[in-house]
Amino acid sequence: MPSPATDAVIYLDNAATSWPKPPAVAASIVDFLEHRAGNPGRSGHALAVAADAVVAATRSELAALVGAPDAARVVFTLNATDALNMALWGLLVPGDRVVTTSIEHNAIVRPLHALAERGVTVTRVACAPDGTLDLDDLARALRSGPVRLVAMCHASNVVGTILPARDAAALAHEHGSLFLLDAAQTAGVLPIDVREMGIDLLAVPGHKALLGPTGTGALYVAPGVRLTPLRQGGTGTRSGEEHQPEELPAGLEAGTLNTVGIAGLGASLRYLRGRGREAIHAHETGLTARLIQGLADVAGVTVHGTRDPALQVATVSVSLDGWEPVDVAAALDSSFGIAVRSGLHCAPLAHRTLGTFPRGTVRLSPGPFSTDDDVDRAVAAIRKLAGTVG
Ligand SMILES: Cc1ncc(COP(=O)(O)O)c(C=O)c1O
Repeated sequence: MPSPATDAVIYLDNAATSWPKPPAVAASIVDFLEHRAGNPGRSGHALAVAADAVVAATRSELAALVGAPDAARVVFTLNATDALNMALWGLLVPGDRVVTTSIEHNAIVRPLHALAERGVTVTRVACAPDGTLDLDDLARALRSGPVRLVAMCHASNVVGTILPARDAAALAHEHGSLFLLDAAQTAGVLPIDVREMGIDLLAVPGHKALLGPTGTGALYVAPGVRLTPLRQGGTGTRSGEEHQPEELPAGLEAGTLNTVGIAGLGASLRYLRGRGREAIHAHETGLTARLIQGLADVAGVTVHGTRDPALQVATVSVSLDGWEPVDVAAALDSSFGIAVRSGLHCAPLAHRTLGTFPRGTVRLSPGPFSTDDDVDRAVAAIRKLAGTVG
């Protein structure tokens, strides 16, 4: 199958999945497949032991990145959606109440919708049209009755607005609730320390800002929080017993892991540690500022969200007068070689909050390998499109 001419691509779709990956990711995957591809925890031979070491090393890197007190409480998942489903379905039972926000991705919206059909009450706190969350509104929702869980994103995947996770967690705890953070858009960019921030459950994708391959993600489960596993099966531990073991990580990791992806994720996490999360964040904040500034005064272009690079991650949503977002994205791709995402971004409620439902927006999301020149070319292309009719 022919591949696209990637040398010429300006990739501004890192909020969907990061690209390119650090070269060490592919190298680690090849090395794993050629030299370490046994089944971890299942056998005692050298290849299985080598695979186990790769999984353990990646788990430790991830635990260190998010300040987990014990690496065993970091469970590998397929992606952030998988982690969120494990948390929500594993915790909530009919009669429970959960408080969430109006800016969430469908990875939270849809499980909660399904849980509501089974007797869980969902209270949604409205965010402002720029995506910000007023903590007084959250406090009001928490005061109106017992709440089992507050579930929210760390940053919007549509406009990048950062939500006050630490303060929200403190409020949740004050009211006897647990706190689940969806860090799909922030893990690898913003500081996350589960203990210091009071995060009971943390969902992260491996394939976005952690720079690993698709098919990877993780759920952190705080000590004392027990989840009913969504999957039961072989864990390589307590094999004589019919019931699923409770100990983590095995209790939530039935079946053979995506060891190949985890090998790649280990390499990307080491790259992140070497380059420095803060340095990447600073780089991306610079690109965000450049993008917002470049688009702010273009006639016919609306930049959504806070328009303040200090209050958001590197995700910028725009609308062009007279253009459907999907046509803008197609024109950027075909005429300028610029890869962006258009539409609702799996977050229809967020678009309702922002006032951009049902057409959605054009989302530009630079990453650690994006350059000023990439941003300048995107701005120039949008200027050109905004001067014509779609
Ligand atoms: C805020 C948010 N939550 C959850 C997800 C789901 O992540 P994944 O694709 O890893 O399942 C995304 C993906 O874009 C997201 O942006």
